[in-house]
Amino acid sequence: MEREPEIPSTTPVRGRGKSATLESVTEPLSPAVAAYVLAHSSPADDLLADLAAETAATFPDAAGMQISADEGQLLTMLVRLTGARYAVEVGVFTGYSSICIARGLPPDGRLLACDVSEEWTAVARRYWQRAGVAQRIDLRVAPALQTLRALPEEPVVDFGFIDADKPSYPDYYEALIQRLRPGGLLVLDNVLQGGRVLDPDPRDPGPRAIQRLNRAIAADRRVEAVMLPVRDGVTLVRKR
Ligand SMILES: C[S@@+](CC[C@H](N)C(=O)[O-])C[C@H]1O[C@@H](n2cnc3c(N)ncnc32)[C@H](O)[C@@H]1O
Repeated sequence: MEREPEIPSTTPVRGRGKSATLESVTEPLSPAVAAYVLAHSSPADDLLADLAAETAATFPDAAGMQISADEGQLLTMLVRLTGARYAVEVGVFTGYSSICIARGLPPDGRLLACDVSEEWTAVARRYWQRAGVAQRIDLRVAPALQTLRALPEEPVVDFGFIDADKPSYPDYYEALIQRLRPGGLLVLDNVLQGGRVLDPDPRDPGPRAIQRLNRAIAADRRVEAVMLPVRDGVTLVRKR
């Protein structure tokens, strides 16, 4: 597995613009800076706070998979800004990100939500009802790739969010990008893998797959992309 080349901080990054030196970047977020970021984004409402609390209490070993409040706010804002009407989510868990996406859709918008867990998505269904977005969400409990490949190949998806099993990210990306309309937006979570994408352990398939996909996206002429150091890394991909 290839290690990413080290780039001295004063070196302009080739192909990334003359002023793209790395002198003014913030060091990886400390817990204190991350708390500051959270405190200066719109707060999660009571419903999302209840969902996070119930998830932490009921599934303590898995609760870390849930997206954070600031990321949820980002999703809602991106769905609104893109004017999306038809969205697809890969990786529901207990439904936090689904609610954030569904809230950004218009009342007649639709979210196709893919997951393999009946247990986790049972919690999601309850909270979708409470949030008043259940009628916008079509849950498919099945391997997501099967669900995505069964969709018509026409580019009708306005917004996609990928946050499921990491080794399958390249396949999810390809299945979704084909179905994304020009101008549509795809959002990928955990693209930094806690920094492991820089030098992935060959025995660790998640970071390896994501390193491969990150490179492919940066070179993909079908799209324009920006990787944001939000939480564990979020890539925004807009189809040309
Ligand atoms: C990181 S969690 C998603 C977190 C969620 N976005 C949230 O905001 O809480 C990953 C989810 O992917 C699901 N998953 C794993 N493998 C899958 C597969 N092959 N197809 C569909 N979903 C899968 C898991 O069941 C889990 O709920």
